[in-house]
Amino acid sequence: METRILIRTESGIKGFSYKWNQDQTDAFYQAGASKENLVIHENGTDHNFSYYFPSSNDCHRCHTDSKSVILGFTTSQLNKDVVHNGHSVNQLELFSKSEWLDASDFGGTYSNLPKYVDYRDQNASLDQRARGFMDVQCATCHNLQTNTGNAKLNLNYSTSLAQTGLCNKVPHAGDAGMPNRKLLEPGHPETSILMARLNSNDPALRMPAVATSRIDIDASRMMNDWIKSLQDCR
Ligand code: HEC
Ligand code: HEC
Repeated sequence: METRILIRTESGIKGFSYKWNQDQTDAFYQAGASKENLVIHENGTDHNFSYYFPSSNDCHRCHTDSKSVILGFTTSQLNKDVVHNGHSVNQLELFSKSEWLDASDFGGTYSNLPKYVDYRDQNASLDQRARGFMDVQCATCHNLQTNTGNAKLNLNYSTSLAQTGLCNKVPHAGDAGMPNRKLLEPGHPETSILMARLNSNDPALRMPAVATSRIDIDASRMMNDWIKSLQDCR
């Protein structure tokens, strides 16, 4: 569909999107944002949806200074077991054996390093799944440094739930059609504004706020179960 490139220039990091032609032989720079209607075949059903090609300005709405602009993968995301030559091995260990990483940067041990779980992993704790998901998908905009309209959230992984600005907090950016409700009500996803935003296709409400138009069903289900599992804001 498109190839996105971030280039380090003298005046900072700039983003560019190149849209591929029908024959997949060449890709062309997209000066502005554009949309294309597509059909996705998923589990035997066709879904129509509008794919959004972000403009260079859109890149910076997510690629903010708060997370070093690049948003490349982090230690927490790479720190997991993978299958290599039929054996299970820690991915960071594999990378350092392949000399892509310097093991001395890690003090030679991987077990103490931070780690995110896969948000689809049913065996992992809901808390870790939800917080890892929000760190990667939401905290680029929702942190203490970035200006996110009226919202006052800090969704970084290390922020305690009470400090995120979500739990039992009144909305600052509209009630999403749910008057007198809180952003997140422990035990009650059905009355939490956060869920209404994740499950909305309305561009004015939908989160993440830019360049996404489909609801992530797996993420929505996981977030629903997480909120249901909460008893309080601790
Ligand atoms: C809706 C938010 C959003 C928008 C808009 C966006 N990105 Fe990203 N981008 C991300 C996130 C989040 C990641 C990291 C994903 C991860 O860590 O798994 C990422 C990763 C990347 C990476 C990979 C970085 C690496 O080192 O692995 C590149 C390159 C990139 N984006 C380029 C662009 C460009 C160019 C644009 C604009 C044309 C753009 N992105 C628009 C959210 C966005
Ligand atoms: C591209 C930046 C961006 C990303 C990524 C993003 N948001 Fe937002 N979010 C915003 C902006 C901007 C607003 C405020 C809109 C306004 O002022 O009307 C907002 C508002 C919200 C609100 C309402 C806050 C309030 O006080 O009313 C919630 C809840 C929210 N976002 C959750 C999320 C979640 C969860 C994710 C990740 C799945 C996410 N956002 C990803 C930019 C973003």
